[in-house]
Amino acid sequence: MASRTPRWRSGAYQRKPKSAARESRRSGGGHEAGSALLKSQFVEPRAVEWTGSNVRIIDQTVLPEDLRYLELSSVEDVAEAIRTMRIRGAPAIGVVAALGVALSARGQAESGARKRALGAIELLRSTRPTAVNLFWALDRMRVVAEETTVSRTKSMSETLLTEALSIMEEDRELCRRIGENGSRLIKDGSTVFTHCNAGALATAGIGTALAAIYVAVSQGKKIRVIAGETRPLLQGARLTAWELVARQIDVTVVCDSAAAWLMKQGKVDCVFVGADRVASNGDLANKIGSYSLAIAAREHGVPFYVACPSSTIDGSLPDGSGIPVEERGEDEVRLVAGRKTVPDKARVYNPAFDIVQHEYVTAIITEQDVVTPPFLGRLVRARG
Ligand code: MRU
Repeated sequence: MASRTPRWRSGAYQRKPKSAARESRRSGGGHEAGSALLKSQFVEPRAVEWTGSNVRIIDQTVLPEDLRYLELSSVEDVAEAIRTMRIRGAPAIGVVAALGVALSARGQAESGARKRALGAIELLRSTRPTAVNLFWALDRMRVVAEETTVSRTKSMSETLLTEALSIMEEDRELCRRIGENGSRLIKDGSTVFTHCNAGALATAGIGTALAAIYVAVSQGKKIRVIAGETRPLLQGARLTAWELVARQIDVTVVCDSAAAWLMKQGKVDCVFVGADRVASNGDLANKIGSYSLAIAAREHGVPFYVACPSSTIDGSLPDGSGIPVEERGEDEVRLVAGRKTVPDKARVYNPAFDIVQHEYVTAIITEQDVVTPPFLGRLVRARG
């Protein structure tokens, strides 16, 4: 995996480095860089892109300190990037995995390409278990690998790449439509609480939950955002706040445990989160802490909105009890900024997601519609 200095685009984030070393260490994604931007200059740094020969991602483990791009040139690179959460967020994982399958087949004749692609799909399926978008995208790639009759003009590997690029382009369009649907629920002057990162960094486009905020802001609404920091990996503090600052949207980061107290004081008008998998009845998996947030929201009469593409709906599951919840390594909890914060002899448990039962959900926003309860039947229809 090659690390490279960021390619600055259209002047966004540009500033004078004090030295070349500083430039590579603090490559401009941080708070000051974002807040210096004029809105009109802002060009969204894309979480995942196809360069024409490789997959380029933003390494999300080093934000907000560094905006560092990585070029992934093999399926093994892609698998490592997903496992280590250099790229994360349900839709983005699906997109990058599809591109990983295409990478695996390149330069191969038909049967070799098919074999490699199927092997890549198996490898990528083992990377992260909860986000169904990964499996949805890999299933699309499998159909191409298994069922495509190669034409004279297009090789198997080209056909796989075309499919992966379509998944990426579709995701961009879905995000835009989710944003438009979600923005209808955000009133001018609102304060929106969000958790984890369901923004541009989690998708190929402008995000899901944050897309609703971005579209609302573009409509001229004044919106304030409260981002829960999202222990243990701090996607809210590091990633959501970074995206919002870069777009000059008013954001305040709070400890996850502050959410209920803010709601009690009437400081939150609605909650907007993403989802990693939604069952047919509207139960859903999202980043650990979403369940506590949903309970607090209901207790205080705050609407709890979930935004996701319809590819996040898993129609094979009647309810949330069948959603696999990823458990991640102990060090994510034991260490804070590289420093030990838990005594060695204490046990650590690190579930990365929780399940929010449908009773707590006010509406699920997809690219097609704003679906309100009862969800059963209506969500699966939304998936088409
Ligand atoms: O573990 P992560 O960072 O991949 O978890 C991400 C989330 O829980 C997001 O809320 C979800 O994937 C929706 S992203 C549009």
